[in-house]
Amino acid sequence: MKRIFIILIAALMLIGPAACGESSPSNAPESGSDASAPESAATESSKSAESASSETAGSQETQTEHKTVLVAVFSATGTTKGVAEKIAAIEGADLYEIKAKQAYTSADLNWNDQNSRATKEQNDKSVRPEIGSERISLEGYEKIYIGYPIWWGEEPRIMDTFVESYSFEGITVIPFCTSGSSGIGKSGKNLADNAKSGNWLDGRRFPGSVSESELRNWIDGLK
Ligand SMILES: Cc1cc2nc3c(=O)[nH]c(=O)nc-3n(C[C@H](O)[C@H](O)[C@H](O)COP(=O)(O)O)c2cc1C
Repeated sequence: MKRIFIILIAALMLIGPAACGESSPSNAPESGSDASAPESAATESSKSAESASSETAGSQETQTEHKTVLVAVFSATGTTKGVAEKIAAIEGADLYEIKAKQAYTSADLNWNDQNSRATKEQNDKSVRPEIGSERISLEGYEKIYIGYPIWWGEEPRIMDTFVESYSFEGITVIPFCTSGSSGIGKSGKNLADNAKSGNWLDGRRFPGSVSESELRNWIDGLK
């Protein structure tokens, strides 16, 4: 009887550890870390694939945005350029500065002088001052804001040079200007007549101090 009991105890001792799964805890971390390594590598690589594709998508969006709206501006003393920059920021648009080949000096801009360059130019509707900035391609633009200061109640003649140098076929064109106090007058219509192409909307005059929210309201009203 005692012998049978001893054999039974010995048999239990032999099969016991296997039955209780004693070997698995020692194996678990190893197999766990082995399994997690490729998993986390896969997550990292899929993360970078995701960010790469979203970056690509982002740059595509940016490209599309920058190809549909343009703000073209002539500004002799910076006021209209400031407004143009705000419009460009609201619209996510490209900004193109129309610069005179021969820059305007303060003597050129003296409206008290009947013989100043600007006064003489404005007195002759046929004058077309040369543009010095690099030519821009309008391909892909659907909407173009055209900004300028009011000179003697009208658009500076260099704006006529600009609109006569391009085709605005299929493009919505929106004039805007700044001035001391005068309204936009007939300048928008003069530009549309000289351009001979494009879908020209009524323009608007702004003070140099116009706020971004005022500009946003105006832009929203155009749509
Ligand atoms: C030659 C000249 C003529 C101007 N004529 C007018 C005018 O008729 N009415 C007006 O309100 N402001 C007039 N101004 C003021 C400008 O329109 C105003 O200062 C404008 O905001 C300047 O813009 P800019 O800094 O972008 O050149 C004239 C300015 C110049 C230099």
